[in-house]
Amino acid sequence: MKRAQSFLRVGFVVEYARSLDRRSRREVITMSAPGDAHRSDAKKQRAAQAALDHLLDGHLQHGAIIGVGTGSTVNFFVDALAACRDRIGGAVSSSNATTARLEAIGIKILDLNEVDTLGFYVDGADEATRARHLIKGGGAALTREKIVAAAASHFLCIVDDAKVVTRLGKFPLPIEVIPMARSLVARQLVAIGGRPVWREGCVTDNGNHILDVHDLVITDPPALEQQLNQIAGVVTVGLFAVRPADRLVIGTEHGVELA
Ligand code: 5RP
Repeated sequence: MKRAQSFLRVGFVVEYARSLDRRSRREVITMSAPGDAHRSDAKKQRAAQAALDHLLDGHLQHGAIIGVGTGSTVNFFVDALAACRDRIGGAVSSSNATTARLEAIGIKILDLNEVDTLGFYVDGADEATRARHLIKGGGAALTREKIVAAAASHFLCIVDDAKVVTRLGKFPLPIEVIPMARSLVARQLVAIGGRPVWREGCVTDNGNHILDVHDLVITDPPALEQQLNQIAGVVTVGLFAVRPADRLVIGTEHGVELA
C-alpha cells in the first residue's frame, strides 16, 4: 500500500513537472527573437573554428584520430573540418547523428576499441562553469560523449557565452536510464529534491530513456555526479565534473575567450 502510494505521488510529480516543462518551453519559444538565434549561431561558429585552429596549430599530429561530440555547436566544428579533412586520420564519434555528418564529409569513423590513443575530444555543452564543470545531454548523446571524453587526453569544450554560468542547474540535468528502471530512478531523484521529467519519445542511441531533472541544487558537481551514479538503473549522469573539460572555448559577440 505504502509502495503504491509513493508510486502514485511520483507519478503525479513527474506528470506535474511535465506540464510545467511544456509551458516553460512554450514561453522560451515565444520570448526568443529571430536575431537571437543568428547571434548565438555566430558565437557557436566562432568557438568551433577556434577549437579547430587550436588543433591545427601544431597541437594535433598529422593523421591523428580525434573524438567528436554531438550537437549544433559541434556541427559547426564538423563543417569547418571539411576544409582540412586530409589532416585528420579519422574520428571516434559520440552519436549516430555525428557519424552521419562526419561520413558525409569523407572522415573515416573508427570504433573506440580500435584506437590506442585519442589526443583530442571536441564537444559542446548545455551549461558550463569557468571551473569547466559541465551539464551535457541536451541532445541525448551523453553516454557515448562521456566515454569518448574519458578516453581523450584533452577535452576541448566549445560553447557560446550564454551557456556559461556561475552555478550549474538552471538547465535541467539529463540522466540516461535503463527503461525498466525509469520510475525507480525518478522516485530517488524526487527524494533528493529533484523534479524529474521523462523526455517522452526520446530513445537514446543505446536504447535507453532520458530523465531531465529540474530544481537540483548543484553546489558540488563532482560529489553529485558520484552520488547519482550509485542509483541502480542510472546509465549516465549528464554532469561532466569528475572528468571536466580541459579547456573551455567560449564564443562571444566579438571573438572567443578561453577558460
Ligand atoms: C548532446 C550534448 C550537446 O553537447 C549539448 O546538448 C549542446 O548542444 P548544442 O551545441 O546544440 O547547444 O550534450 O548530448
